[in-house]
Amino acid sequence: MENRTPSVNEDGVEALLFRKTTGCFATGVAIVTTKVQGRLEGMTVNSLASVSLRPTLILVCLAQGARTTQAVERRGCFIVNILCEEQAWLSNRFSRPAEDHYAGVDFVLNEYGLPVLRGCIAHLVCRVENILAAGDHLIVVAKVCHAEFTGAAPLIFFRGAYARAEMNVKQEPPVADWYW
Ligand SMILES: Cc1cc2nc3c(=O)[nH]c(=O)nc-3n(C[C@H](O)[C@H](O)[C@H](O)COP(=O)(O)O)c2cc1C
Repeated sequence: MENRTPSVNEDGVEALLFRKTTGCFATGVAIVTTKVQGRLEGMTVNSLASVSLRPTLILVCLAQGARTTQAVERRGCFIVNILCEEQAWLSNRFSRPAEDHYAGVDFVLNEYGLPVLRGCIAHLVCRVENILAAGDHLIVVAKVCHAEFTGAAPLIFFRGAYARAEMNVKQEPPVADWYW
């Protein structure tokens, strides 16, 4: 019995069940931004994960065919802007494909001409290292070339809705001593 692997349909579990269940894993919210051929692109993501310390690598999973995915593939570098708790409106803005995402949005172009959104809790400057196709998404592994953070509180995404972190992130000690 213990050597058996789970048997699945070709598509795994039913899609809604999959969404609802993986949505129990609370995450932060970030916006991947880039600029290619003079055009600013950006999309909301919560599939961000830290991968490696030496070298410093992260991953994001980007939908195949999304405008920002194509722009990231073409440009080969991007910013991960990690949202603070007041920025749910930005998350909504950058998750709707038809809108002019950047209208009224405060941002600066950094030394590489990449858009850094103002007011975020943190941002990472990333260079694409590896792209792996996985189902309907691409797993983009990128080297972090520059990182900055502030003490602001994060925006949380849980069960398809935004939430705030209950702990006071400015006062609570980190869970693990090694973290800092
Ligand atoms: C909270 C949240 C998290 C999301 N996370 C992801 C993600 O990790 N990867 C992804 O491909 N799309 C994600 N999306 C959906 C994209 O933001 C959305 O499809 C976007 O419009 C695609 O960008 P485009 O305008 O460049 O096509 C997320 C949306 C929300 C609201």
